[in-house]
Amino acid sequence: MNHQASKLEALVKSNRSTGVKKTRFIAITSGKGGVGKSTIGANLAYLLARSGLKVAIFDADIGLANLDVMFNVKMKKNILHVLKGEAQVSEILIPIEPNLVLIPGESGEEIFKYASPGLFEHFMQEAHVLDAIEVMIIDTGAGIGEHTQLFLKIADDVVVVTVPDPAAITDAYATIKVTSRMRGEIDVIMNQVNSAKEAIAVFEKIKAVARANIGEGLQLRLLGKISLDPKVALSVKKRMLFCKEFPTALPSKEMLEIAANIAKKLEHNVLVDATESGLSGLFRRLMEHF
Ligand SMILES: Nc1ncnc2c1ncn2[C@@H]1O[C@H](COP(=O)(O)OP(=O)(O)O)[C@@H](O)[C@H]1O
Ligand SMILES: [Mg+2]
Repeated sequence: MNHQASKLEALVKSNRSTGVKKTRFIAITSGKGGVGKSTIGANLAYLLARSGLKVAIFDADIGLANLDVMFNVKMKKNILHVLKGEAQVSEILIPIEPNLVLIPGESGEEIFKYASPGLFEHFMQEAHVLDAIEVMIIDTGAGIGEHTQLFLKIADDVVVVTVPDPAAITDAYATIKVTSRMRGEIDVIMNQVNSAKEAIAVFEKIKAVARANIGEGLQLRLLGKISLDPKVALSVKKRMLFCKEFPTALPSKEMLEIAANIAKKLEHNVLVDATESGLSGLFRRLMEHF
């Protein structure tokens, strides 16, 4: 294990002693598709799980080849089957690694179509199998659809992924603007950058536009950057995680920094109420907006 990886592990261990945690829900979104949400989500989930956290990743962008491709698994049944009473939560979960489970999810839209209060009650009793989850990453669809917004509203953290091309930046800004109506803090990951300088320059540009149009109320934070590297695309193609396949490559080190930034946030995540946890906690939040 390299130095950064062991630092992340030590950070997670030191946080452990502060008591039971509620699940931290982290939504990963973007304005434009194809900017690296699923790649980043999958690798982030892997790194956090390897550092000792109990992690779930929820695929809410299920129409396209997504997390199943990233993890090289087949999703048969998903959360809709559970909501319709056709499967149990434990049947749909796909174990990926120790501490890491994939939840074949659905878009907010589909969930709401089927989530009647009766089914929901039944679902919540079963969803408790995931209460021990410390971090749940939600891979949302791109864009600012009404139901994607729902995930952004209920998440503890929203991470907007963008690449430095002008169209993606414009779309990222649109997502930031909509999200800013629901929350005062948004994280940004600059993906596929050629240098740290470029990442910071583009981020500062987005921030300046946000400050001028949204105002001082919004705190935009650069959570990290990931370099453009053919090894990342190669890993995706081979259905492998680049952080696992090329642990010493630059993008893997950058992902570790991002994972450490997220692990730091968990410090204050002390459990207030057991109903806040896991998949049941996620659905409780969603249903409050039903
Ligand atoms: N840092 C990177 N360097 C090189 N290629 C990347 C990088 N990040 C993502 N990609 C490429 O972009 C493609 C789309 O990424 P993906 O995670 O599927 O996007 P999204 O989930 O946002 O639609 C991947 O298949 C991969 O080839
Ligand atoms: Mg995706």
